[in-house]
Amino acid sequence: MSQPIDWAALAARPTKLSIKALWQAQLERWYAHPGLYRWSLRNPLTRWWTRRRTRQLFDLMAGFVHSQVLLACVRLDLFHVLHHAPANLAELSRRTQLAPSVLQRLLLSAVALGLLETRGQDRYGLGPLGVPLAQHEGIAQMIEHNHLLYQDMQDPLQFLANAWHGGMAQYWPYAHGKPSASPQAEELDKFTRYSALMAASQGFVLQEILSSYLFGEHRCVLDVGAGRGRFVSELALHAPHLQFKMFDLPPVLALADENLRAKGLRERVQLHPGSFLDDPLPAGADLITLVRVAHDHPDAVVRQLLQKVHDALPPGGTFLLAEPMAHADPAEGAGDASADAYFHFYLLAMGDGRLRTPQELMAMMKEAGFMHVERVPNAMPIHAQILLGRKNKCLP
Ligand SMILES: C[S@@+](CC[C@H](N)C(=O)[O-])C[C@H]1O[C@@H](n2cnc3c(N)ncnc32)[C@H](O)[C@@H]1O
Repeated sequence: MSQPIDWAALAARPTKLSIKALWQAQLERWYAHPGLYRWSLRNPLTRWWTRRRTRQLFDLMAGFVHSQVLLACVRLDLFHVLHHAPANLAELSRRTQLAPSVLQRLLLSAVALGLLETRGQDRYGLGPLGVPLAQHEGIAQMIEHNHLLYQDMQDPLQFLANAWHGGMAQYWPYAHGKPSASPQAEELDKFTRYSALMAASQGFVLQEILSSYLFGEHRCVLDVGAGRGRFVSELALHAPHLQFKMFDLPPVLALADENLRAKGLRERVQLHPGSFLDDPLPAGADLITLVRVAHDHPDAVVRQLLQKVHDALPPGGTFLLAEPMAHADPAEGAGDASADAYFHFYLLAMGDGRLRTPQELMAMMKEAGFMHVERVPNAMPIHAQILLGRKNKCLP
């Protein structure tokens, strides 16, 4: 089992060097040996490995350039423009109003990163990584949104010393303590903006949940932190026998109300505006879901929320939690641990939540009283991992 990653919260412990730690120290000495690098490049059996390590380090150094190339392509709308319609440099230059000599740098960089491809002699089309950008609006919106984070992190040490002084902290009105009970126009605008972004970016997470968990046994689902109701709307089509309840802050549920009416789903959904910091959750659902909510909040709030979820369920009721989780030990978790770095920093810039490992969240669920806590395997854990808990059927 991997260790809890909130080491900051653990008391200092005397260090005992394990065999693994001694082996890691030996590896570090080998890596630092100047002869090893030259020897490994000469040896055909080790060359690929040294090249790969060098390449990984180079990519880390160049990461900012890569994300700026991506952002420039999004802002110039190249992924839509080139979808099914390859174009040459002169055509793209006219359209983007950029001089061919500089535009070409961008196009060649995008080709190098797999976002675009050259087609024939002088035309550019979408590369394998560019196709999803033409198809999923949510990715482009997240790329634009990440610009706020990267601005906040421009000086990483200043950011670490004072993470909440930037655009990201301003963007999320609830992530620093209690949101205002009667928000004014400017604040209301923030709820509208983040709810639109969440709805646009939720598609991949929903796909993971809908293709990994069977909803047939349930009757009524309460989605907590439900946003504008994209999950509920898609689940309503996926499982037509279900009734729904949604719980979120009042300005967000006002947006959900409009959205559900427009989709003709309002009759199947009860809206419960409130704050889980102050209010109990409504009873009556046999499945409660929490999608991309826990990681926004500190441990004390998550513990309180899980307790409220447990209290609101009937005996035998089910709780499903889905969100990006840490791969503290990549050898153990499915997927690529490098995504952890993004989420650690995103959540720090946003407020006082944090990325947790599945094991940490499962321990918190057990603490709240859930039995049979388990992981639901899913195909693409980078979007979200899924945990399930049951409330005991036996009376205390
Ligand atoms: C990151 S968004 C996720 C929304 C949606 N579940 C999704 O995955 O797109 C977190 C949601 O939790 C809601 N939320 C935050 N604090 C809350 C609170 N104290 N009470 C109720 N809802 C809250 C926010 O309004 C927002 O809709």
